Amino acid sequence: MRTRLAVAFSVLCLATFCNGYSQSVPSNAPYKNPKLSADARADDLLKRMTLEEKATMLAGSGWMESAPIERLGIPAIHMADGPLGVRSWMGSSAITNASSNPVKIESTAFPSGVAMAATWDPALVEREGKEIGEEVKALGRDMILGPTVNINRQPLWGRNFEGYGEDPYLTSQLGVAYIFGVQSEGVIPSVKHFIANNQEFERHRINVVMDERTLHEIYLPAFKAAVQQANVWTVMSAYNKLNGTYCAENEELLNTILKRELGFKGFVISDWGSTYSTAPTVNAGMDLEMPGGEPARKMIASPRSLLAGNSGTWLERDKVLAAMKAGQISEATLDDNVRRILRVIFLSGIFDHPHPAGGPVDTPEQQAVALQGATEGIVLLKNEHALLPIEQDKVHSLAVIGPNAATARTGGGGSSMVRPKFAISPLDGIKTRAAKAGITVTYALGVGMEGEDSASDTPEAREAALQEAVDVASKADVAVVVVGRYWKNESEGFDVKTMDLPAGQDALIEAVEKANPRTVVVLNTGDPVTMTQWLDTTPALLDMWYGGEEGGAALASILFGDANPSGKLPVTLPRRFEDSPAAANYPGKDLTVHYAEGIYVGYRYYDTKKVEPAFPFGYGLRYTSFAYSGLKVTPRFSVDQSVAVSLRVRNTGKRAGAEVVQVYVHDGHSKIDRPVHELKGFEKVDLMAGESKTVTLKLDRAAFSYWNPATKRWQADPGTFEVQVGASSRDIRLRAPVVLER
Ligand code: BGC
Repeated sequence: MRTRLAVAFSVLCLATFCNGYSQSVPSNAPYKNPKLSADARADDLLKRMTLEEKATMLAGSGWMESAPIERLGIPAIHMADGPLGVRSWMGSSAITNASSNPVKIESTAFPSGVAMAATWDPALVEREGKEIGEEVKALGRDMILGPTVNINRQPLWGRNFEGYGEDPYLTSQLGVAYIFGVQSEGVIPSVKHFIANNQEFERHRINVVMDERTLHEIYLPAFKAAVQQANVWTVMSAYNKLNGTYCAENEELLNTILKRELGFKGFVISDWGSTYSTAPTVNAGMDLEMPGGEPARKMIASPRSLLAGNSGTWLERDKVLAAMKAGQISEATLDDNVRRILRVIFLSGIFDHPHPAGGPVDTPEQQAVALQGATEGIVLLKNEHALLPIEQDKVHSLAVIGPNAATARTGGGGSSMVRPKFAISPLDGIKTRAAKAGITVTYALGVGMEGEDSASDTPEAREAALQEAVDVASKADVAVVVVGRYWKNESEGFDVKTMDLPAGQDALIEAVEKANPRTVVVLNTGDPVTMTQWLDTTPALLDMWYGGEEGGAALASILFGDANPSGKLPVTLPRRFEDSPAAANYPGKDLTVHYAEGIYVGYRYYDTKKVEPAFPFGYGLRYTSFAYSGLKVTPRFSVDQSVAVSLRVRNTGKRAGAEVVQVYVHDGHSKIDRPVHELKGFEKVDLMAGESKTVTLKLDRAAFSYWNPATKRWQADPGTFEVQVGASSRDIRLRAPVVLER
């Protein structure tokens, strides 16, 4: 086989030179005709390429550019990091953070992925994707490296803030929406990281071991939806290994599952420096290695590189040609890779309409979407004695306290970090809004952010800062304490060290609550935090996640009741790290992590095994209340039919608000072990005070199915299921049986 490939290779090289391929191509070459399909154009162009040109296309030409082929007019794909807005594309993302970016690129900092997930609003996420797409184009780029759809398997992953939480269905819906938005602008998204990148600890070397059912039910669905529902143009492979093989050279994962079984027609791009071989990588279905050229060589040689040794620069032209010469890669394989890249270049429109830089960024429309996302993503977790919204006729003074009060913590650290033109801190947002109501605002730091300000970090200074917080809190009508993390302790590249708040913040909350019982605690962080020390005595609690550049304005609008909270948790908040399903199997041993909890991730675990969380999945209070009634479910169905679900939801309070109605399916009869219930549908409904609406949803066969490893298929067992409708995974309000007929 090898000798045959090698002979074919020599004949091909000869033909390449004898046929005069170095000439330019006629202006009427079919691939230049925008009226032809992307497939036809890619086929025509591929035929005109020399072997060298084709091999050149498998590696990037720079940090964020694919290789252009000038002779044929093939443009470089100009990339930019995301997914939470457009990040500067210069410099090495192995050491990414806001301040080390050498070139200042300012763009809209949208809320973190977990904040957008808390909106449970695919239409809003689609608008966000569209705005980001517009910004990508305005900055002269073609591609955004997002969305991140990795599942929140455990509370310490440094990048949980980027993704959409713990549930595969919710994550799928939002990932699809983001991709639709980006692609509608002719911009190329990259759904990432394929697959099982659920911890940063040893991400370049860790071997994730999981069974097939877990892969198909938990970690694959969001990628499957991206391919089958959104026709995503590119998928980014992950750094880690899956079941013994690096994702970038995992034939089963890329060729068999992604391309053959799911039908992915776009191209696979490597994560930056995630490749370890030439022929095995190309043959496994990896189409484009990034980065490339000089920046790639510098990156792997850099002593600061966080990459595992030996990674990157494997798909450089000469290495690919040498592997072909040695009979290790066939021309058909090379053609398939290149064809996929060309097809996306045509499909996206960047061949015909390049994106010149210089358009407007951070426009009022973009800011409006960022504000809406930040506002609707805030989750009201506790509100005793209706402390919120702030009663503007009774409250005359507010004390705003905490390490995250005066500094806008827009997002976590790493490649998703956007440098915005401006960012509204909680203190700024509250001051602006309070001024309108004639309320005075005082501020105290209370405690510095751990690791941020070590110069003034002496025991005396700490005591004085705490005392100042107690003083301002005791003199104000209401105290607002904003606590959490920031981009240096919650970031890509490493995991969060502990679920506990950074040093001194628990003590600050306790001291402020003692000084003023009317205290509102605000969490400004991506990952969950331990709250056991103060939760029972805290009257009001909000989770604002990382809210992007408008986070502070959004918080103010919730505190003052201009907006009614409408967020719900896209992730369970456990009481303690040890309670979480993966705690016993994180971060692994000897560079291997066993996903031994299997499909029992998030509420699938807490609800099935009856482990009490601090706050359950899907939970979130409002300044109003809703009544659910009249559940109607198709009583019987067969596998090729869908089940109609309808119910009435009424706003029984005095304010307009939005409820997120969640539909779970319980399967108590199948032979295989299943979680007590799984989310299979949801709908966000806006209701005026007193108004009611009918919510209708459809559940198809997938909603009742599990992955059967024996048959390697999705299967729904005939029998009686229960459709559950609730306000959270632990607040099921209505139930109805439905029978799947034999
Ligand atoms: C991250 C990717 C990112 C890439 C380029 C990697 O370290 O894992 O998410 O898109 O860098 O910056």
